[in-house]
Amino acid sequence: MMKEDDMNSELETTRQKVIKCTKCELSKTRTNSVPGKGNFQSDVIFVGEAPGRNEDKKGEPFVGIAGQRLTIALEEAGISRESVYITNIVKCRPPNNRVPTISERDTCQDYLQKEIAIIKPKIICILGNTAFNSILGGSEITKYRGKIVKKDNQFYFLTVHPAATIYNQKLITVLKEDIIKLFELIRELKNGKQILADIDYSA
Ligand code: URA
Ligand code: SF4
Repeated sequence: MMKEDDMNSELETTRQKVIKCTKCELSKTRTNSVPGKGNFQSDVIFVGEAPGRNEDKKGEPFVGIAGQRLTIALEEAGISRESVYITNIVKCRPPNNRVPTISERDTCQDYLQKEIAIIKPKIICILGNTAFNSILGGSEITKYRGKIVKKDNQFYFLTVHPAATIYNQKLITVLKEDIIKLFELIRELKNGKQILADIDYSA
């Protein structure tokens, strides 16, 4: 087991690398890079798409309207934002919030891999299609949301992107219910219960 101090300093090293990173074109148009943020001892990592305007200004993930939606859904499940870890597929804002390109996602993926390797979450919560596609090669998140995936001995939970709930009132209920399910699942994992994945890549 990595010691807590080591985890914290490794995460801080990654943070500093992200802040200074110029590995892709997005570094030229960003105001601030947006490293992941939160509790390094969290059981879950939430992965979104990319920073938006507010995140780019503040250098923190999910601080705009989408972030408010995520915070509300977490609170409904009795979970504080500070108790979890939140990050994105790419750490810099794409101009006009366009979807990050495959090349940008590939270039940035080492940082996410590092965050996962340090935190070793029991489950990774995928928020929306870009994260679903980048991490698991999937598409059609609205069809697969609420499902549990197992791949290379890692559990994933799929749900909609919080930004999608802004213009679709039905999806806020969906997000809230999914987050409640996610934390029920985490409780079961912590209690050593065998979890059956809906989709198992290793089977
Ligand atoms: N949308 C995302 O995918 N990530 C953020 O950090 C903010 C909005
Ligand atoms: Fe570096 Fe990722 Fe930002 Fe590109 S998006 S500059 S790879 S931190």
